[in-house]
Amino acid sequence: MPYDFTGQVAIITGAGGGLGRAHAHAFARRGAMVVVNDLGGARDGGDSDKDSGSSAAEKVVQEITSQGGKALANFGNVTSETDMQDMVDQTMTAFGRLDILVNNAGILRDKTFSKMALSDFQTVLDVHLMGSVIATRAVLPVMKDQEYGRIVMTTSSSGLYGNFGQSNYGAAKLALVGLTNTLKLELFKFGIRVNALAPVAATRMTDDIMPPQMLDFLTPESVSPAVLYLCGKEAPTGEIITAGAGTFARAQILESAGMFLGADATPEMIAENWDNISDMDKAKPYKQGADQSQKFVVGAFENEA
Ligand code: NAI
Repeated sequence: MPYDFTGQVAIITGAGGGLGRAHAHAFARRGAMVVVNDLGGARDGGDSDKDSGSSAAEKVVQEITSQGGKALANFGNVTSETDMQDMVDQTMTAFGRLDILVNNAGILRDKTFSKMALSDFQTVLDVHLMGSVIATRAVLPVMKDQEYGRIVMTTSSSGLYGNFGQSNYGAAKLALVGLTNTLKLELFKFGIRVNALAPVAATRMTDDIMPPQMLDFLTPESVSPAVLYLCGKEAPTGEIITAGAGTFARAQILESAGMFLGADATPEMIAENWDNISDMDKAKPYKQGADQSQKFVVGAFENEA
């Protein structure tokens, strides 16, 4: 059964509450030893609030161990290289291996772009993008040695499609798709698969954004099966799964076939041919940037021939 994680070790960042907690429980129930990372903190990344604090990670560990699972708490900050290296060292000392990393830690600092302090833009990029980069770099040497690894980046519909007031968050979240797109190419030969998850769930991140009737359906637990799927032995690589309230879907970046207008093309010609250029009937995804670049050269070559 590919979704039995007995003997495997999973690190979940930001697992002291919300989605990360649900993922940690889901892995533990399927036999994994789980590292519950969370520095504890308010929703905006500021000081601990009453629902959080470093006890958040410990509480989740207690929940898992009281149900017969194996887990340990780590209070590292994902933006610190030292903390993430310590987390990997702690994991290896306790469990002796490391198979799965779910980059889940995150914060929100919403404001319209014109009113947003640059420091709030930067901090959100630091936690979501650099936090995932730093945690991923910390686990890679072990995964490469083992020739096995599963990494999940947590993206968002805010990055994929946009969301009013979330320019910092959306930019960071779509950057994680860019990171996934390259890591899927670089790490495949080491047996490491990298995918992205775009969840929707009722957590403290969304409790004042959606009406209570909607939130009732959106349990974090209903998202976690997607993470387990992405971390199974048969996992795909380079995919984006969207998940919420029990529905799962695939998101993809597609490009239209396009139209050759010649090296002397003018903006007027683009305007005249826009219906054709933008026709998505024959749109397709590309495995890598170079495949897309080829389309342009082939277009020019075929026209010359
Ligand atoms: P949450 O606020 O309950 O969980 C985030 C956790 O990350 C918190 O426990 C927090 O203490 C921890 N954290 C924050 N900064 C950290 C740092 N520097 N180092 C270590 N831990 C840190 O929110 P939720 O909703 O569970 O979010 C989990 C992930 O899912 C986030 O990446 C979020 O952006 C993403 N997401 C959530 C959606 C939702 O509908 N809830 C929608 C799309 C994406």
